[in-house]
Amino acid sequence: MPERLENLMKRIRDLPSLPESLLEINRALEDERISIKEVCDIIERDVGLTTRVLRVANSSFYGLSGRVDTVPRALTLLGLATVKNIAVTSGIREIFRQKVPGIDPEFLWHHSLATAITMEAIHEGGSTLMKDRAFICGLIHDVGKIVLSLLFPEKMEEFTAKVSSGGSSRLEAERQTFGFDHTEAGAAAVREWRFPAIYQTIILHHHDLEMGRYDPDSIKDESVRSLLESLLVGNVLAWAILGEESPESIAERTAKLPLQSLSLPPQEVPALVEKCRARWEEARESFST
Ligand SMILES: [Fe+2]
Ligand SMILES: [Fe+2]
Repeated sequence: MPERLENLMKRIRDLPSLPESLLEINRALEDERISIKEVCDIIERDVGLTTRVLRVANSSFYGLSGRVDTVPRALTLLGLATVKNIAVTSGIREIFRQKVPGIDPEFLWHHSLATAITMEAIHEGGSTLMKDRAFICGLIHDVGKIVLSLLFPEKMEEFTAKVSSGGSSRLEAERQTFGFDHTEAGAAAVREWRFPAIYQTIILHHHDLEMGRYDPDSIKDESVRSLLESLLVGNVLAWAILGEESPESIAERTAKLPLQSLSLPPQEVPALVEKCRARWEEARESFST
């Protein structure tokens, strides 16, 4: 690893650590052999996590209002994969609750959730594993923005001024101010937080297109390529879901994306935005408290 990134890792290790339960759940994410009992134990060891999982499991997002009173019951009614996802999402949600200078964590959470829901919808017909990975990728793709603010609070004012002066792109301004951009900071953080390796790769490359270094032919792993492509789409559609841009102008933008693993005819974009917005509103509500 280059010295510059070693340095970044060292700084990330000094950040307040995440709850042990989230680290354990992250490790369990792609462990297909993990038992229901083990997941149950991880969640139940953390009272806060147990409460959050039960609250979300009972929300309208999962359609089980009031019927889930224990973690084992949540596992029976929703299944292992869904409960693991609720636990990870609740853990990631906590990262976005911190007060950090220079960014609005709530806005970033809404953007991330919209990206996650779009990515999940794109992978709808695929395997459960890919659908779950897509959702989590969307949730954490921009976590590096929070990490940079936690690492360099004293530099955030300088950074914000640089971005609003319009002289450089956000990524350039990050590199100039902090020495790293949010793709590097995010990838290093999820490595430290024991997320499966695929998430580091996706985060690290999620702005390659804007940086003029996107080369889909060099990506040998088909899962990585299709997740990166759905993230490109998700990042654009999120603007329409949050009401910041019209679905028609979004359709024009997505038509220009270099997609190989997935096809998204422009005439289907408005309906996809509509469907994802409804789902986003429910999810926002479920994870609001
Ligand atoms: Fe980003
Ligand atoms: Fe983003």
